[in-house]
Amino acid sequence: MRTIRVGLIGSGGIAQTHCRAISEVEGIEIAAVSDIVVEKAQKTAAQFGIPAVYSDYNKMLQETDIDGVIVCTPTALHAAPTIAALKAGKHVLAEKPMEATLDAAAEMVRTAHATGKILMVALKLRFSPQVITARRVVTEGTLGDIYYAECVADRRRGNPGGSFVRKDTAGFGAAADIGVYALDTALYIMGHPKPISVSAITSNYLSKNNPAVLGAWNPDVTNTEVEDFGVAWVRFENGIRMVFKTSWCMHMDSLGGTFFLGTKAGLRIGVSEVKGPEEGLWVYRDEFGTLTNTSALFMRPLQGIELFKRENLAFADAIREGKPSPIDPDGMLLTNVIIQGVIDSSAAGGKEVAVTVPDVH
Ligand SMILES: NC(=O)c1ccc[n+]([C@@H]2O[C@H](COP(=O)([O-])OP(=O)(O)OC[C@H]3O[C@@H](n4cnc5c(N)ncnc54)[C@H](O)[C@@H]3O)[C@@H](O)[C@H]2O)c1
Repeated sequence: MRTIRVGLIGSGGIAQTHCRAISEVEGIEIAAVSDIVVEKAQKTAAQFGIPAVYSDYNKMLQETDIDGVIVCTPTALHAAPTIAALKAGKHVLAEKPMEATLDAAAEMVRTAHATGKILMVALKLRFSPQVITARRVVTEGTLGDIYYAECVADRRRGNPGGSFVRKDTAGFGAAADIGVYALDTALYIMGHPKPISVSAITSNYLSKNNPAVLGAWNPDVTNTEVEDFGVAWVRFENGIRMVFKTSWCMHMDSLGGTFFLGTKAGLRIGVSEVKGPEEGLWVYRDEFGTLTNTSALFMRPLQGIELFKRENLAFADAIREGKPSPIDPDGMLLTNVIIQGVIDSSAAGGKEVAVTVPDVH
């Protein structure tokens, strides 16, 4: 089995998790690391035995013999390195969400199609047994036609701080950062219906005004420039209607969880950031002349690092075998279409806005 060689662009928090995951699997290795703060790249290189260190990722792309890169820069800085790497003939695994704006995300997908290289967005939940099984439940026709869904990603007091709360690095807040997990999970399970309109409200009252409490992730309550809460009503071309709810910060234990109502059955899913009140997978039906619930057994929540291992192995396998991206970038782009709708509608005071899927071919 050929070992796939990758370079890291950005050497902050999540890059460390990729390094750890890759150090624990066979068939993929990190050959170089870059960060504009070169000391961070040097530290990561020393810790994980990475042979080459760069402050400029363009130089890394030119000088090192790598098959692909993992883009671990802050969200509003994903497009530039992704596009540079694709144009340099490298495959790309870009951290989530794809980008801060729909335009930037569309340009990434367009470049992937033009260069024929893999663009995979790091949506680790796609590798969880709950999401894989939920998609199977839907493709086997168990739900009939889905007509309504709710998708939720929430934390009670989990404002992440740092580059996540600055407009210039994150672009947007919870709706993009953890909201992308809820949106991608729902869109994938439903088979990527095309969104046509979004109506949304957002706020950041709690992050800015609440005194720090025990258990809060980010003790600085003044530095949040982005929203920490959002709710949207999304309409799809095929008639499905969906409520999308997200929060980094709230006086509540859960916003209710993620579920799908179909003409033949309903499905509820709880997994990691999209956990809702409980982890698991349940199907609700009328059977045997009565109401039944089917719950999936043996679906222990996977540790984060396990999902990162599966994600990196899928990326390496697709490169090695010449397969398409394990996470279709065109489908992924729909998360940015909805997030852009949330941004535009909330800026317009919650008015419904039409959304369109950009042409990327
Ligand atoms: N998949 C997950 O579970 C998960 C978890 C956390 C973060 N993320 C995502 O990962 C991304 C990064 O998050 P983080 O927590 O590692 O952020 P971070 O701020 O800790 O790290 C970002 C790093 O990128 C570097 N950087 C900035 N511009 C650069 C450039 N032009 N070239 C090279 N390096 C550059 C910074 O110096 C910094 O070291 C975000 O998009 C975030 O949403 C994903």
